[in-house]
Amino acid sequence: MNVDLLIVGAAQLVTCASGGRPKRGAQMRDLGIITDGAVAVKDGRILDVGTTADMRARYQSEHTIDASGRVVCPGLVDCHTHAVYAGDRLDDFESRIQGKTYMEILAAGGGIMSTARATRAATADELYALAAHRLDVMLHNGTTTAEIKTGYGLDSATELKMFDVIARLDREHAMTIRPTFLGAHSVPPEFASAHAYADHVLHEMMPAIFAAHAESHFAAQGVPLAVDVFCEEGVFDTVLSGQILSAARECWGQPVKAHVDEFVNLGGVRVALELGALSVDHLDVTPDAELELLAGSETVGVFLPAVNFNLGSTHFGHARALIDAGGILALATDLNPGSAPTPSLPLVMAIACRYQKLLPAEALNAITINAAAALKLEGVVGSIEPGKQADFAILATDDYRALAYEFGAPLVETVIIKGEVQWNASY
Ligand code: NIG
Ligand code: FE
Repeated sequence: MNVDLLIVGAAQLVTCASGGRPKRGAQMRDLGIITDGAVAVKDGRILDVGTTADMRARYQSEHTIDASGRVVCPGLVDCHTHAVYAGDRLDDFESRIQGKTYMEILAAGGGIMSTARATRAATADELYALAAHRLDVMLHNGTTTAEIKTGYGLDSATELKMFDVIARLDREHAMTIRPTFLGAHSVPPEFASAHAYADHVLHEMMPAIFAAHAESHFAAQGVPLAVDVFCEEGVFDTVLSGQILSAARECWGQPVKAHVDEFVNLGGVRVALELGALSVDHLDVTPDAELELLAGSETVGVFLPAVNFNLGSTHFGHARALIDAGGILALATDLNPGSAPTPSLPLVMAIACRYQKLLPAEALNAITINAAAALKLEGVVGSIEPGKQADFAILATDDYRALAYEFGAPLVETVIIKGEVQWNASY
């Protein structure tokens, strides 16, 4: 049979195969590797997977990629980013080097608020150009699917502008994008209290943003607009966070997630679990008892260790405790100008392996199939299995462990989305 694309001869075809389910606990050590593997692609989807001999016997193609001496893995999935913003936070970076903390800078009107000022001032076209370039760089690091949050508007007009930019990125950029509304990211100075701003988010912003979502191609394609909140001391407490997330679920019928326990343990995990959250993210100071509760749920625990690294912290969340208790763990970059200015999931793997004691196999499942599950895309991307989107990263190594081991090395050689080559390092 003739197919659109054959990739053959992979030293390791890392399938991350899971039968369309996220991997829990000990399953995360299994990458479903096929030695001398091959994959057949038709109409942008994976048709068949097996050894090179088997695939060559069944299929031929005018477009064949020889992956000998290479690893072929699923395109990487970044399930937590803030990739749409203007400006930079280079001054914050220097202030932190000189001793100020992230939360001190935020409380003094810098941090997220300074990015909000720059994002409010930028046009939609400017924001689009900046974000499209960031997605290109992420793609060159192997990412083929990304979640993107609003949250640097903190007023209705700018939150809507960010949503429109995110929708345009999904339509025009090769990467698959999933949108999240993060109106409750910080309390802007126009409001006297978190309570007053949360009311505004609930009664002004959410109706406007869900009206825009309903008219967008996302809604037409059945793609929800998830709702997120920064549940943290000095930002939104568990009561306000719970109000926003339950409105998202009950009034608007959308999935929810939350930034929890980045600096102070407020109990956000329990609030999110009661609402059946897709994911809870950060988890830096979550006690093991709450991680065990999380492990017993369908909610994905997303660790973002590039944040700890970027903030110069030697403290990392207890990722091992979540895996060892049988939970579903994912990793993401948290790409944003303040706490994690990195486009690289391989770098995140490298940090998680060293400081959170994940094995490279666990870390690779955490940025593929489990990250897909955090976006409810485990049936669509994140593994190399028949029927899934034909998204791959081809690595310039014959052992997948090098992706975590050779930190900083540009091992991603070729990136394929829906069967089309989008990046080749030798171009
Ligand atoms: O996930 N913690 C809250 N939000 C982002 C940081 C955003 C920023 O600093 O601009 C985070 O770390
Ligand atoms: Fe974040």
